[in-house]
Amino acid sequence: MSLEQERAKERIAAELDIGRRRSIGLTLEALDESDLLAQHSPLMSPLVWDLAHIGNYEEQWLLRAAGGRAALRPDIDGLYDAFENARADRVALPLLRPDEARAYNARVRREVLDTLEGADLSARPTVPAQGGPAERSLLDAGFVFHMVIQHEHMHDETMLATHQLRQGAPVLLEEAPAPETTGPPVPAEVAVPAGPFTLGTDDDPWSFDNERPGRTVDLPAYLIDTFPVTNAAYREFVDDGGYRDPRWWSTAGWEWKSARKAVAPAFWSAENGHWTRRRFGRREVVPPDEPVQHVSFHEAEAYARWAGKRLPTEAEWEKAARYDPATGRSHRFPWGDAEPEAHHANLGQRRLAPDPVGTHPGGASPLGVQQLIGDVWEWTSTTFHGYPGFHAFPYREYSEVFFDDGYKVLRGGSWATHPTAVRSTFRNWDHPIRRQIFSGFRCARDADRP
Ligand code: AVJ
Ligand code: FE
Repeated sequence: MSLEQERAKERIAAELDIGRRRSIGLTLEALDESDLLAQHSPLMSPLVWDLAHIGNYEEQWLLRAAGGRAALRPDIDGLYDAFENARADRVALPLLRPDEARAYNARVRREVLDTLEGADLSARPTVPAQGGPAERSLLDAGFVFHMVIQHEHMHDETMLATHQLRQGAPVLLEEAPAPETTGPPVPAEVAVPAGPFTLGTDDDPWSFDNERPGRTVDLPAYLIDTFPVTNAAYREFVDDGGYRDPRWWSTAGWEWKSARKAVAPAFWSAENGHWTRRRFGRREVVPPDEPVQHVSFHEAEAYARWAGKRLPTEAEWEKAARYDPATGRSHRFPWGDAEPEAHHANLGQRRLAPDPVGTHPGGASPLGVQQLIGDVWEWTSTTFHGYPGFHAFPYREYSEVFFDDGYKVLRGGSWATHPTAVRSTFRNWDHPIRRQIFSGFRCARDADRP
């Protein structure tokens, strides 16, 4: 086995382990059996469902599909199929108990590490016998392992949203304090010149099907906010009566707001004009300099209209994040191609909150836009669809079945997103009414308007 492959396998084994420790920390180590089996919100699965679903997904893709092994527990596949059972119904299923889920996941993982040893990760895309474009293969550059690693972290982020909705005393610990460093003062907006850039990717070994194929996109000039919108800025909208003025809202947004009786972001409450928020069981003053989070697409869109701006399209977001005017090249991250470190971005659940704006100058894009990666997922104005030439791989249910159904694209990852599960091409999506996710936004506007 080549040294390169040996290194790739060591990295995969290490990342699999990091993900599993994280999952266990959010479930078996954090809560007792009844809390793990309980439904904390109709929007979310019981935590023990996520836990065994992670193991079942790993079994299906790494042991059966890639490893050619027989099913360990074909009887439980249906329970953990997200399309067969809606989130609200999962609590009533005969789910594995926490200790059974732990044992099942551990058994799958032992066999996976065994399979990894013999896997040929140099497998190149296969060219179909009938000709035509080369097809990506499961093991190509380690893809299926990367997919499973990212899948576990996505569910860990989902489990954090469940923890946030859960009532009761705090059970999660902050690992790191907020960073002290603040960069030099910078303008509130960045001008992005008109012209072409590369959107998406053809060869990132961690990329999902919906990030491909890469293509050149030519955008007119625009301005984009240097930072995500803060709690202080969002509060001005709230205090200005933004939630009572239909001028700022789309028809669907106004309907949602009225039915939901929303008056502020989720988890905020006011006493005598004094805003606090509930965060993982703690009630605290809303920190003014943090990016606002737990807002729906509709709230983001209304704020932008009130501010005389609009949301960026996902192409505008990605150009601001990747395009280097000096070289014309697109990078994997705003700061370049280096793996994310703490000074670049607030990722990986180091804290249980976004970092104040201005604390990650080291993560600025070549154009000078900051905190694009990490902190909060950023709503864009784009409806989720496949790029031209999209080809579902390795399964339609990862993204294709969600195309063009009114889901809005979110970009950049949050403080809860693991570094392996985000990059400047990564696309997330959700219903425009959702706000239990760690969602915020930044604004943009056309360049030819004052
Ligand atoms: C990409 C976050 C929208 O959680 O619904 C999890 C990821 N896909 N299991 C989701 C996913 C399969 C997905 N998102
Ligand atoms: Fe899943």
